[in-house]
Amino acid sequence: MSEPVIGVVGGSGLYEMEGLKDVCEERVETPFGEPSDLLVTGRLGDARLVFLPRHGRGHRLLPSEVNYRANIYALKKLGVEQVISVSAVGSMKEEIVPGHIVIPDQFFDRTAGRRDSTFFGEGVVGHVQFADPVCLRLAGLLATAARQVGAVVHEGGTYICMEGPQFSTRAESRIYRSWGVDIIGMTNVSEAKLAREAELCYATIALATDYDCWHEGHDDVSVEAVVALIKKNVALAKRIIAAAVELLTTQRSCGCGSALAYAIMTDRKLIPP
Ligand code: ADE
Repeated sequence: MSEPVIGVVGGSGLYEMEGLKDVCEERVETPFGEPSDLLVTGRLGDARLVFLPRHGRGHRLLPSEVNYRANIYALKKLGVEQVISVSAVGSMKEEIVPGHIVIPDQFFDRTAGRRDSTFFGEGVVGHVQFADPVCLRLAGLLATAARQVGAVVHEGGTYICMEGPQFSTRAESRIYRSWGVDIIGMTNVSEAKLAREAELCYATIALATDYDCWHEGHDDVSVEAVVALIKKNVALAKRIIAAAVELLTTQRSCGCGSALAYAIMTDRKLIPP
């Protein structure tokens, strides 16, 4: 049986993956421009892993500056079928304590429309299903892996994706809470949309780092607090990835690999080869 090829998109604090064997760095060209950085390929257990730091090494790219299309295209070009996103998020619920892991199953898009979040357009019209925006099979495996390594895990939940780069105002934070969301971040919905269009499985390991600015008993979110919590938990995130990789196989029982089967509206005769 051939090996699974797994993409890992590392967020704040996760700029490299140790423990990879046969490591190679690749500059990948895409029709959409440059990915965030060189892609690092290697072996982890029985899988081939392709790692990409979302904000680039040294954290150079704002959430709005990340070239999400190039990143997803580059992962697909290197044979990735399943993408694990690792992201720091704010907690919008008392019970999601900083240090806990959330595996979201829904996204709410509050980005400002400034990001290129589709591969369609320019004469080809497609509408993929997005009611379940993450791969629930992959998400389930990530939750199992996180529990195996001793993390406190919240399985399911809604990730609201804001544009940033400023953190939310208190009024925004309170309103988002009244909408019932669980966590807040600045990147994942754009990746999830493109991964679906690229027929890749996509799920997120979200590390809660703060209570944003709604919690009267806690300090307002700051970069300092986020970085401190990530530093304490980055090893945990890596252990979750390693455990997840052991659970993943090439067989995808989900529908992610055929997301385009009925999605394209444009007359096939009009689509250039
Ligand atoms: N990433 C980590 N904490 C965050 C917060 N409170 N808001 C948006 N993105 C975040």
